[in-house]
Amino acid sequence: MERVLIRNMKSDDIGQIIEIEKKCFSLPWSRESFEGELKNEHAYYECAEENKNIVGYMGMWKILDECHITNVAVLPEYRNRGIASMLIDKMIGVCKCSEIKNMTLEVRESNTTAINLYKKFGFFSVGKRPNYYQLPLEDAIIMWKNIY
Ligand SMILES: CC(C)(COP(=O)(O)OP(=O)(O)OC[C@H]1O[C@@H](n2cnc3c(N)ncnc32)[C@H](O)[C@@H]1OP(=O)(O)O)[C@@H](O)C(=O)NCCC(=O)NCCS
Repeated sequence: MERVLIRNMKSDDIGQIIEIEKKCFSLPWSRESFEGELKNEHAYYECAEENKNIVGYMGMWKILDECHITNVAVLPEYRNRGIASMLIDKMIGVCKCSEIKNMTLEVRESNTTAINLYKKFGFFSVGKRPNYYQLPLEDAIIMWKNIY
């Protein structure tokens, strides 16, 4: 396995990030969404790079003492190699170094892969948001993690 570098996302990366979005989600975020996120003072985005190619990314919003994870995605051919785990580990480290006390996220009820991933890092289910997702319509599981 080549070395995977976890680093901050830059505007030059957005082209590759959009390609990851298209391969990973039924409703991919647009270029404008990512441009907005990179200008948002509350947002923090990082990407995983291998051989100068971006193979995954993750984002969060930090608001007061809470972190809301916006997205995590890894290209299909790079999955099950611990890349999402590296991204989450880095985000948790960033939260621990700031005033963040809790992390939260929503995940599709059927997405057991992602739910297992988050549980591995100490996230637990606290409820549901009915019909939160489109294409297909589905409930979201709300997950939380306390930062100590
Ligand atoms: C979810 C996703 C980001 C995981 O990326 P990844 O790099 O393959 O994840 P990792 O290799 O770090 O796996 C970490 C954990 O996830 C879980 N996991 C990974 N693949 C799994 C699978 N096929 N089935 C069940 N659990 C799985 C396991 O708990 C695994 O831990 P382990 O290796 O110690 O068993 C990736 O599958 C993806 O991009 N999916 C599409 C986008 C998406 O659903 N994002 C989440 C939105 S909330």
